[in-house]
Amino acid sequence: MSPPATAAEIRDVNTRYHDAAAGDYDSKWGIDFGPVGRRQVTTKLAKALGFAPGRFDRALEIGAGTGYFTLNLMEAGVVRRAVCSDISAGMLQVLSANARRLGLEVETVVGDAERLGLPDESFDLVFGHAVLHHLPDLPAAFRAFHRLLRPGGRLAFAGEPSRHGDRLAALPKRGALALAPLWRAAMSAPAANGGGEGEGGDHDMEWLVDVHSFSPGELRSIAGDAGFEAVRVGGEELLASWFGWANRTLEGTADPELVPWLWRQYAYRGYLVLQQVDRRLLEGRLPPAWFYNLLVSARKPQRSAAGPA
Ligand SMILES: C[S@@+](CC[C@H](N)C(=O)[O-])C[C@H]1O[C@@H](n2cnc3c(N)ncnc32)[C@H](O)[C@@H]1O
Repeated sequence: MSPPATAAEIRDVNTRYHDAAAGDYDSKWGIDFGPVGRRQVTTKLAKALGFAPGRFDRALEIGAGTGYFTLNLMEAGVVRRAVCSDISAGMLQVLSANARRLGLEVETVVGDAERLGLPDESFDLVFGHAVLHHLPDLPAAFRAFHRLLRPGGRLAFAGEPSRHGDRLAALPKRGALALAPLWRAAMSAPAANGGGEGEGGDHDMEWLVDVHSFSPGELRSIAGDAGFEAVRVGGEELLASWFGWANRTLEGTADPELVPWLWRQYAYRGYLVLQQVDRRLLEGRLPPAWFYNLLVSARKPQRSAAGPA
């Protein structure tokens, strides 16, 4: 399958891939709607903004998926009312089911990030996680976010792949592939037999949907050019992402049903511990570009007394 060539093709492949992935998305990515998930999203939002968030009255999530960010932020009391938008109706159906289970009320809107038919200046926060790298026309998307925010409102995105960090993460992936036969023997886990992610159908499109990785400077200038001020770009996850990619690569070579529970616990707990190590020791000391994920935040200027900013 060749990569999508036009903006319409990028949107179409994203819709089909995420519709197909929605059913097992939460278990595949270990999405948590308890204390762990709440801590993860509030920490990420604070890192992106550069301060501990208070309470946002009305927030819009772009590419909300199954609700990881919005639902956890609502549970944490950081967001009061939310609109969750996504190009995939399938993802939003899972989000609505998750919201019902948690007793939360959210509005959902199916649509492309650039063309949401929502009123101007109607949100205090426009945010997203792991979505910008799927959008075909980022300058147009940032102009749309600017339109939707009230003056003084905040923009915050986390979990965007850094170009340099992505290249560094190829090393643990390669190492894990070389060690995979030994690992499977140690785990008594037979090799995957044409199953899992390599299977046919829309799951084969995973590599087609990620259309960008970023340098910090690119994100800064896209936000600045769209009219935002106080633009901040940070990086997160270095050791945690290497550990996570090595383990996912090993697991991807085995029959998923037969990967031992103890191994999965070790991989999950180890990842959480290394997230803390990254946060306490490395983030803030090393350049953002070295990390696997970038975070960007900005503010829409207040109107000056003389007229629109
Ligand atoms: C990697 S998932 C992240 C989902 C969720 N934010 C999370 O962190 O779990 C990317 C999401 O972006 C959505 N998406 C992709 N292209 C989009 C577009 N053009 N407009 C709006 N949403 C889009 C996908 O459908 C998917 O739900």
